Amino acid sequence: MSGTVTAPTVNPLREGLRMERMPSPATIVIFGASGDLTQRKLIPALYDLTCERLLPAGFSILGFAHHDYDDYTFREHARRGVIAHARRELDDEVWNSFAAGISYVRGDFTKPEDYRQLVQKLDEIDKRRGTMGNRLYYLATPPRFYEPIIASLKAYGLNECDDRDNWRRIIVEKPFGHDFASARALNEIINEVFDEDSVYRIDHYLGKETVRNILAFRFGNGIYEPLWNRNFVDHVQITVAESIGIEDRASYYERAGAIRDMVQNHLMQLFSLTAMEAPVSLDADAVRDEKVKVLNAVRPIPPELVSRVAVRAQYAEGFVDGEHVPGYRQEPGVDPHSITETYVAMQLYVDNWRWAGVPFYIRTGKRMARRVSEIAIRFRPAPQRLFDQGLTTQMESNELVMEIQPEEGISLSFKVKVPGPTFELRPVNMVFQYGTAFNVQLPEAYERLLLDAMLGDRTLFIRRDEVEAAWKIVDMIVEGWERQEIQNLPTYEAGSWGPVEANMLLASEGREWRRP
Ligand code: BG6
Repeated sequence: MSGTVTAPTVNPLREGLRMERMPSPATIVIFGASGDLTQRKLIPALYDLTCERLLPAGFSILGFAHHDYDDYTFREHARRGVIAHARRELDDEVWNSFAAGISYVRGDFTKPEDYRQLVQKLDEIDKRRGTMGNRLYYLATPPRFYEPIIASLKAYGLNECDDRDNWRRIIVEKPFGHDFASARALNEIINEVFDEDSVYRIDHYLGKETVRNILAFRFGNGIYEPLWNRNFVDHVQITVAESIGIEDRASYYERAGAIRDMVQNHLMQLFSLTAMEAPVSLDADAVRDEKVKVLNAVRPIPPELVSRVAVRAQYAEGFVDGEHVPGYRQEPGVDPHSITETYVAMQLYVDNWRWAGVPFYIRTGKRMARRVSEIAIRFRPAPQRLFDQGLTTQMESNELVMEIQPEEGISLSFKVKVPGPTFELRPVNMVFQYGTAFNVQLPEAYERLLLDAMLGDRTLFIRRDEVEAAWKIVDMIVEGWERQEIQNLPTYEAGSWGPVEANMLLASEGREWRRP
């Protein structure tokens, strides 16, 4: 069975409460402008927003990095990024007006004197393009530069608004700290210079339409929320599987591993949106209050019990999409004796009235069979076995799956009677797909997030207490792992669904992982 929902063509970025608002003219200052993130995500997203006419005339981009560009060569670099990564084809007319707002300052993040030129250029842009001193600083550098950049912003007074009633905001990329203590220290540094209301900690998962839809689906419908609790839900599975390996990021990944790279941020966001209570409103703080409460309600795991509830593993060589790929330890730049995990599966409990006793199984891995992110709510089976269920052991109970990517939609499984003389049941799926229902291409997460930061809407950004609460959960797992003196991690073949140890995590409780 498949969905027949149709809807008029919409522009998802214009939809919703914020639909008519246009940000005030501003300059986005990108620290780390010559890097990958800028070229692959930020510039293409800003270009797409320009195509959608969602940015004001005068909007400007000022790149700052060590690389030897000038305005002209930086624009060329940006242009290549747009051609390769924007949703829209390059349109010469749009590009010319967009490019007129792009400039570049070469500088060393750690040398305060190099910021002098940045200040001059910003003043010049304000005059030339009418940006009125509104500034969005984007930290797209490796984290070791955050502190010197913030210190220089303060030293030149770039954090403070002036008498033109303007705004100064800062977007901070992940990784936000390496553990609870370093995240807290970074928060201290940032909050000394920028009010919490001006700090936008980014997690690009929150900008994905399907992630935002979790709230809409849960709280905009009358029939699901009454079932969304321990009386009806048997367990929840959250999966973020990737088929890619670590690409050329060995030096970062070796230190991070899957738990810091994915669990602390993206998985914790999916988890808290799935488990939170309804917020009193859609205000940034109302939503974030509820997310923090869930994170704080996670049952503590003593270090000696971590091995019972969390599994880590590394990919070994194998085949992904028909291509032979090396194992993690054979990747360039990776220590051949590395015990950094590329896969994590864990079980969490939320000790509150809604969820007491309901396990949340969370897993993520690189080089898995295919790229898929989804949240599956498995309901309790029907209490009475009236029918011959011989054929339906796999799909014992109803399941609601919110598909985040690459398919974007929702499906609900239930059982129906197979036509014929016997009372044989079989599971079927009712499916909703964004693409077919709305006939739109969904915007990139960074489009939504950059626009929201310019509009001053913090709902989709992470609050200080939230990032710290997520680190506390990760720290307790890491502490347990650090106590285990091991030389090797379990492995899983690249292109598989993960290690057998992860299956045992569920099997010991009579459950099994979904095969997405
Ligand atoms: C990033 C991680 O935050 O998210 C990467 O650092 C990962 O390792 C990426 O590949 C996944 O993002 P997406 O949007 O492709 O699911």
